[in-house]
Amino acid sequence: MGRLNDEPDPIFWALNSSIRFDRRLAQHDVAGSIAHARGLARIGVLDPAESDAIVAGLGTIRDELTAGRFGFESSDEDIHMAIERRLFALIGAPAGKLHTARSRNDQVATDLALYVGERSRRAGELCHALMARILAVAEAHRDWPIPGYTHLQRAQPVYLAHHLLAWFWMLERDVGRFAAAADSSAVMPLGSGALAGLNWEVDRDGVAAELGFASPTPNSIDAVSNRDFALDYMYAAAACATHLSRLGAEIVLWSSSEFGFCDPAEDFSSTSSIMPQKKNPDAAELLRAKAPRVVAALSTLLGVSHALPLAYSKDLQEDKEALFDAVDTVELCLAAADGLLAGIRFNRDALVAAAADQFPAATDIADLLVRRGMAFRAAHGIVGSLVRVALEAGVGLGELSAEQLAGLTDLPFDDYRALFEPGAWIDSKLSVGGTAAPRLAEQFELARRRLAEIEVVPRSPAAPS
Ligand code: ARG
Repeated sequence: MGRLNDEPDPIFWALNSSIRFDRRLAQHDVAGSIAHARGLARIGVLDPAESDAIVAGLGTIRDELTAGRFGFESSDEDIHMAIERRLFALIGAPAGKLHTARSRNDQVATDLALYVGERSRRAGELCHALMARILAVAEAHRDWPIPGYTHLQRAQPVYLAHHLLAWFWMLERDVGRFAAAADSSAVMPLGSGALAGLNWEVDRDGVAAELGFASPTPNSIDAVSNRDFALDYMYAAAACATHLSRLGAEIVLWSSSEFGFCDPAEDFSSTSSIMPQKKNPDAAELLRAKAPRVVAALSTLLGVSHALPLAYSKDLQEDKEALFDAVDTVELCLAAADGLLAGIRFNRDALVAAAADQFPAATDIADLLVRRGMAFRAAHGIVGSLVRVALEAGVGLGELSAEQLAGLTDLPFDDYRALFEPGAWIDSKLSVGGTAAPRLAEQFELARRRLAEIEVVPRSPAAPS
């Protein structure tokens, strides 16, 4: 019985069915159906016995899903049909009333919004944990120096903690983006029907509240075609994975023999199948390499949405695999970055030696001339000459003699020498946000406060565990 006489062609079935991936939304679908059934009961579409039977049946399905006992069948087109089929098997006739005042179009958008809300909060938690880890590693290396780089050339030395806290602030912004995705997923599509609204005056506010949504959607056409909340999540995930790729890339560089700055722990490294001496920073390399697939997921859904006429089209089924891959990838990478940093060891001697390179003091010499009244451009030229003389003599800037200096500038030799006292260049960077020790102490204070402020948002009442 129904519109079509012919069975679906197997190839069409393979193209059209989504059960192999949308089963991930099963618990959200059950939660949505329970709230919908209660809503139908409140307006008298279901009598109390029917609604009790439906809610109890859905409870059984939830338990079966949780226990991994739910029997999916090859004839299930998608998760919504699979759950309805099982409900019929469990409770019989009343199951046929559940889809009153509902379309799979508002149903799937609701399931997905619940899912995105849940995963946005989870990503926020994982970012928070990683930020706490970075802060702890930074605390443990507060006064260790490291060369700071531009163009991957040694530029100016900084405190290692200052460099590590740069990662902290990247993640702090990611937290904001995931929170925005949680907000944009907090509007409930259910009650929009196929696209035009319903012939029933369901209590959408009540259903929304039960599911943990802030409000129902204001426009039914927009509601069934909107996937912006998934785009928001994927943009947050793409930015976050990209940040982790930069963190990973630095650890790959730093752990090479050429740098020798750090050593990832063995439980986050592997060895070579042919070269027994090798310890490879695979975790860091994979953090570096995972980001593009998250970016691709974002671009997939942007592409699917491009020029798509309103309202629902089956194209929108293509939102899920990309989203799920982005979720799996970014959650794994956040946890892996935490594990990687938990066991990392830094090599103080190598860092001190690299940061003692005297050429990065060039800016400080120029600034000393500026303090004595010279224009910066002129000072820049003089220091350039000092660098050339030092390079030609094969000495560091701090080893230039009083005579060599006198030929080029009238800087008092003692003032000049004082620039090369240990720590002098790092602690001279005293603008707000700079690496100097007092500024770094303020930054730590700010980071600790921010970490404490970031609300790890509680799960919405309906969100499955
Ligand atoms: N599996 C579908 C999806 O993911 C569910 C909605 C189907 N709606 C429809 N009108 N056929 O989008």
